[in-house]
Amino acid sequence: MLIKTKKNYQLSENEVTAEPVYHDRRQVLKKMGYLGAGTLLAQSASANPLDFFSNKPDKVFAQRALSFQPAGESSQIWTPEAKVTTHNNFYEFGTNKSDPVENAQGFNVNPWQLSISGEVDKPYTLGYDDLFTRFDLEERIYRLRCVEAWSMVIPWIGFSLAEVIKKAAPNSRAKYVAFETLYDPKQMPGQASRRLGGGVQYPYVEGLRIDEAMNPLTLLSVGLYGKTLPAQNGAPIRLVVPWKYGFKSIKSIVSIKLVEKKPPTSWNILAANEYGFYANVNPEVDHPRWSQASERRITSGGLFARNRIATLPFNGYGEDVADMYKNMDLKVNY
Ligand code: MTE
Repeated sequence: MLIKTKKNYQLSENEVTAEPVYHDRRQVLKKMGYLGAGTLLAQSASANPLDFFSNKPDKVFAQRALSFQPAGESSQIWTPEAKVTTHNNFYEFGTNKSDPVENAQGFNVNPWQLSISGEVDKPYTLGYDDLFTRFDLEERIYRLRCVEAWSMVIPWIGFSLAEVIKKAAPNSRAKYVAFETLYDPKQMPGQASRRLGGGVQYPYVEGLRIDEAMNPLTLLSVGLYGKTLPAQNGAPIRLVVPWKYGFKSIKSIVSIKLVEKKPPTSWNILAANEYGFYANVNPEVDHPRWSQASERRITSGGLFARNRIATLPFNGYGEDVADMYKNMDLKVNY
């Protein structure tokens, strides 16, 4: 998909990062073939599983002194790649932030099969290579806001979920989209152990309403920082829904199914009063155990950094998404 009109989510690289980094990245992307012909535009043993999600800052990622202008895109600095790939939530590989990078290194993603099925006229399946060749790849720099009240700015590579869905020709009964992560306890130790997997019922499942799924912001990502996705970030393909809390952005997807009824979602199954189906970022609706009014932006910082910023409604993407919820009470539909 060639993007012709620039929306505020399609930030140009030099708007968000320092010049030298910008040039290095251009080189990397060029090598990978993303550039040219405009394509670039183109605590684990706890008894209560709910303790695993927490908003407590962790020591490893203490931050440098930097204050951000939350609304000013041009002042946003990418979260360093080393943090994006070592501070993860991927409970299939353990509940501590450093577990995924440690436990996912042997994760074999090729061959892979992703099926697009359900209420569609033309179901189909994508293999590993298809993930990188069937759709035009583009880079999107998005903020990721975790429900635990930390956030990052990440340069993703991928394509709109809408493109994938359109190809399957959904029928009129397709009202929701249900997503499923790979179930493979041999490769994913958190699925084999309730303790390591945080009590989540596997496979991890997520869902969107059809209009949310078709919104051009909704991305299927196959890479970040100009490279294919590391295992711990959800290789080979994961969802990124930037106006919703991070738990909606399901990783290592094997099934996208168009369905008639609202599908079950993993964190909602575990604690419905804490994690809703919609999970739109909302500074006015607190999590029952902590405030959502502000967030800790993860940067390259050291200790004692001033990196707490105000959380924006819809994570700052309201212009593109608020209309979808104009008749809904967002306190009820959290
Ligand atoms: N997908 C699966 N399958 N399993 C998970 O545990 N964690 C979610 C989401 N997707 C998760 C998942 C949560 S809580 C967040 S915040 C994001 O992935 C984190 O993505 P990242 O590790 O790439 O930053």
